[in-house]
Amino acid sequence: MLTGAGISKESGLDTFRDEGGIWSRVSLEDVATPDAFRRQPDFVHRFYNDRRRQLLTGDVRPNAAHDALVRLEREWPGEVLVVTQNIDDLHDRAGQQNLIHMHGEILKALCLHCRAVHDWRADMDTATACPSCGEAGGMRPQVVWFGEMPLELERIFAALDTCSHFLAVGTSGAVQPAAGFVQQARFGAGAHCVELNLEPSDASSAFHDHHHGPATEVVPAYVDKLLAA
Ligand code: APR
Repeated sequence: MLTGAGISKESGLDTFRDEGGIWSRVSLEDVATPDAFRRQPDFVHRFYNDRRRQLLTGDVRPNAAHDALVRLEREWPGEVLVVTQNIDDLHDRAGQQNLIHMHGEILKALCLHCRAVHDWRADMDTATACPSCGEAGGMRPQVVWFGEMPLELERIFAALDTCSHFLAVGTSGAVQPAAGFVQQARFGAGAHCVELNLEPSDASSAFHDHHHGPATEVVPAYVDKLLAA
């Protein structure tokens, strides 16, 4: 299963490309590239500090769609892998075990001096010192920026080459390599591909089946259907 920002929308987190989404308020070139971080690190830190703080307020919690994917994993032990493009921790808090954050996690930080990765819930700026090496000026959110390599692609490709079902939940199909996963599952593994999204996406034509509507409705309904089969 591939998830995107749409699965977290009903938990109160904005998507990127919908009207009023994150990229309509700030340019991705200014906050989500290595060059942006080199040019204006504190501006980039403020962007992620705001999103980290929003995630940690009490009223942002996993929703029924996250919970339905956990239910499926528990009913089909060892058979389900969730690959999320999201950097929030809602799948983790819902209890998903077999989970890959291919674009990293906003609640983790990387030190560019010593490469240590830390759990991170506080604000960060260029004066922040690394808890491991003590150096300042090198801490960054452990998120994958445009132009950087997504995480755990080997493991993801291995799953795509052997899967029988491929579900995409709440993603616009706008960003590679995630946008190409459905092709690999469909034509590589012969998987049955289903799009669960608010509305048709750029990648809709690659799927056999589509269930359009809010994730908190269409995902639990589809999981019920899978489990009843
Ligand atoms: N339920 C289901 N789907 C929804 C809902 C909802 N309540 N609200 C919006 N959606 C759908 C939209 O129709 C859209 O297809 O979620 C999708 C969100 O698309 P994007 O905003 O492009 O988010 P995503 O596909 O996750 O973006 C991929 O792009 O900017 C980068 O790194 C960022 O991981 C992100 C990647």
